[in-house]
Amino acid sequence: MAILFSTKQLFSICIILSFMLSFSYGRSPNPAFRIKAANLGGWLVTEGWIKPSLFDGIPNKDFLDGTQLQFKSVTVGKYLCAENGGGTIVVANGTNTSGWAIFKLWRINETNFHFRVFNKQFIGLDTNGNGIDIVAESNTPGSSETFEIVRNSNDLSRVRIKAPNGFFLQAKTEELVTADYEGATSWGDDDPSVFEMTIAGRMQGEFQVTNGYGPQKAPQVMRKHWSTYIVEDDFKFIAGNGLNAVRIPVGWWMASDPTPPAPYVGGSLQALDNAFTWARKYELKIIIDLHAAPGSQNGFEHSSSRDGSQEWGLTDDNIQQTVAVIDFLTARYASCPSLYAVELINEPLSPGVSLERLNKYYKAGYDAVRNHSPTAYVVMSSRIEPIDPSGLGPMDPRDPRELFPLTSDLNGSVIDVHYYNSNKSMTVQQNIDFVCTNRSAQLNQITTPDGPLIFVGEWVAELPVPEASKEDLQRFAKAQQEVYGNATFGWGYWTLKTLNNERKHWSLEWMIENGYIKL
Ligand SMILES: *[C@@H]1O[C@H](CO)[C@@H](O)[C@H](O)[C@H]1NC(C)=O
Ligand SMILES: *[C@@H]1O[C@H](CO)[C@@H](O)[C@H](O)[C@H]1NC(C)=O
Ligand SMILES: *[C@@H]1O[C@H](CO)[C@@H](O)[C@H](O)[C@H]1NC(C)=O
Ligand SMILES: *[C@@H]1O[C@H](CO)[C@@H](O)[C@H](O)[C@H]1NC(C)=O
Ligand SMILES: *[C@@H]1O[C@H](CO)[C@@H](O)[C@H](O)[C@H]1NC(C)=O
Ligand SMILES: *[C@@H]1O[C@H](CO)[C@@H](O)[C@H](O)[C@H]1NC(C)=O
Ligand SMILES: *[C@@H]1O[C@H](CO)[C@@H](O)[C@H](O)[C@H]1NC(C)=O
Repeated sequence: MAILFSTKQLFSICIILSFMLSFSYGRSPNPAFRIKAANLGGWLVTEGWIKPSLFDGIPNKDFLDGTQLQFKSVTVGKYLCAENGGGTIVVANGTNTSGWAIFKLWRINETNFHFRVFNKQFIGLDTNGNGIDIVAESNTPGSSETFEIVRNSNDLSRVRIKAPNGFFLQAKTEELVTADYEGATSWGDDDPSVFEMTIAGRMQGEFQVTNGYGPQKAPQVMRKHWSTYIVEDDFKFIAGNGLNAVRIPVGWWMASDPTPPAPYVGGSLQALDNAFTWARKYELKIIIDLHAAPGSQNGFEHSSSRDGSQEWGLTDDNIQQTVAVIDFLTARYASCPSLYAVELINEPLSPGVSLERLNKYYKAGYDAVRNHSPTAYVVMSSRIEPIDPSGLGPMDPRDPRELFPLTSDLNGSVIDVHYYNSNKSMTVQQNIDFVCTNRSAQLNQITTPDGPLIFVGEWVAELPVPEASKEDLQRFAKAQQEVYGNATFGWGYWTLKTLNNERKHWSLEWMIENGYIKL
């Protein structure tokens, strides 16, 4: 059965079925019931690594939003830098590639860009001065902050940057960068308008893919992806292999379907409607997971950050807007028997998202869910933080008990913790022991008789050990199933499938089909 229902019909179908089926499968009050879910990662919220080919057709695809660029002047031999990280002039005396020498792209179209600096300003012409000096002072980029990147077609690492006044940027001296170089170039080391460019980081999320294709092509590309990447057969496979639920990451823009704000495109809501139809048919439960909140709650591509910034939760407006998304989604699906839980936000990052702001949102989001559904569980993701405080490496839950004071008053609340085990200096056995000893101790520590239910909403049987054998992975998967099987709400594998040959173990479908995981 394909896409057959309009929104209104879907509503009534859910109401009729919830009445008819409430005796057969609806929400189970059985306390021994545990979720075994497949996450539908990379479907309605893009993550490039899950399906790299989704980006193949983007013109000039090296330059997407959030791409981090460094520019070394060929004449001066040093890096372009926002002096002090931003707020003043741009110089060419950087001796290292620290944050001040990194420029993050905002893509206007395939040739034109804004460049965002460390302190979040955009570089532009000094319109209050002589009109040709380059400064990093604007907080709201406009035409004076719009640049063209011109690449040397014979050596893609050599570029020139064309300013809005029609001239090229040049490093006149280490301390003077101006937009007043005119004319052609031989791309030689003697041309002060030529820079060696390094790509220091890339992002491949929903913002990048939709803005990369642009308003003409993106709707067609995304709708094709949504209707082919996850289909009814996937639900059949899930139900037929010992799983009982799907956790579906969604983005905030879905609530303004069919006309979400640019660059997002409409149609993902229809795909979610289909998921409810299929879940009903195969008797699977659905956890709707707000994976991407407006402004991004963690700066990762998987929360649709534009350039790595985390701006969610900084204002009350933004929190209200997010509550409205939860309200919309719960209202739409509350009568569907498959709706099992609503996860208010995925992986808010500490300390950028403060506990106070998060609590405020969780309370309001909980009320929004309860307005429409007395029974849906309300899942609250634990804040995450880097395991190694010196950088943004692998993440782990921050102390999930920080949510206990809040959840104690909220019936039907669940805390979600994500357990990725990615310590490269551990052997296979140490990784297995880590799960059996440390993860199980962590779970015990947050499991209390009167407290919230606990959900290990994301885990994967991938070892950071290149020589791991099939048997190693089987043991690693089994250990995790046993330990996370103790989680009082259940667990979810990240993710159902990948179309990436280098990341096969992240595909639960592949792991089941190839005998690595048995349920
Ligand atoms: C890197 O360069 C910045 C300025 O460009 C400077 O402030 C900082 O001290 C340098 N760091 C190192 C480790 O050299
Ligand atoms: C890209 O944007 C610039 C600035 O808005 C505009 O002048 C130019 O025509 C656009 N180019 C394309 C290919 O759309
Ligand atoms: C770079 O130039 C600026 C402007 O003159 C100066 O303030 C700064 O100290 C210089 N930085 C280095 C690393 O030389
Ligand atoms: C709330 O608590 C009551 C009784 O304590 C229970 O019957 C009901 O199922 C709970 N609701 C949820 C959503 O868990
Ligand atoms: C990674 O494993 C090594 C070796 O067991 C250990 O010393 C280190 O603390 C671990 N790192 C983290 C971040 O857990
Ligand atoms: C895991 O737990 C063991 C035993 O409690 C402890 O010695 C070890 O430091 C823990 N490892 C990590 C990486 O936290
Ligand atoms: C499961 O939880 C129980 C009770 O907290 C504990 O005794 C047991 O060791 C746990 N099992 C695993 C595999 O962690």
